[in-house]
Amino acid sequence: MTNHLDTIEITEAVDATAELTEALARFLPQLSTSAEPFTRDVIEEIVREPNTVLLIARDHAEGGAIVGSLTLVLFRALTGLRAWRVDVVVDTASRRRGIGAALTRAAIDVAMKQGARTVDLTSRHSRKSARLLYERLGFTVRNTSVYRYIPRASGKDD
Ligand SMILES: CC(C)(COP(=O)(O)OP(=O)(O)OC[C@H]1O[C@@H](n2cnc3c(N)ncnc32)[C@H](O)[C@@H]1OP(=O)(O)O)[C@@H](O)C(=O)NCCC(=O)NCCS
Repeated sequence: MTNHLDTIEITEAVDATAELTEALARFLPQLSTSAEPFTRDVIEEIVREPNTVLLIARDHAEGGAIVGSLTLVLFRALTGLRAWRVDVVVDTASRRRGIGAALTRAAIDVAMKQGARTVDLTSRHSRKSARLLYERLGFTVRNTSVYRYIPRASGKDD
């Protein structure tokens, strides 16, 4: 079997192209059951946001198709520069080839180069694949609680 990662290229998305918008729209239901569909303007906002890094994985064995993405947000707090990995997704047909791990390593690299002290993320208990991936890469579970305020009318929790 060939090393499937040989054909994978990870870059930061800098243009909100139709191709990128279409790929991210395809990934959205794999990330959230309640998120509203978005338009290209939203992707434009994300790529222009200076504190947000949108990484994409392309598979050159598939004509350079976008097969995964990861969003990292960096912000300065009194306690230092923080990095939050907001989401990672690999298209179903491309999973278990190391792409999620490669995206996550690339995000850690970006965060460390920017001077972040830590990289945080949250993951539901039901996301077994994701949790195995994080633990394998050295993330550890913190003994803390994540709180969320949800306006009554919304009821959304993704
Ligand atoms: C989580 C996700 C991004 C992993 O992407 P991936 O490209 O398949 O992950 P990798 O191939 O890099 O896996 C790296 C390691 O994670 C673990 N892992 C990942 N998926 C796994 C699975 N289904 N079962 C068991 N272990 C798994 C393994 O240790 C794996 O290494 P190995 O294949 O050498 O055993 C992908 O499953 C996904 O997009 N899921 C839906 C969206 C999601 O849950 N995102 C996370 C939000 S918190």
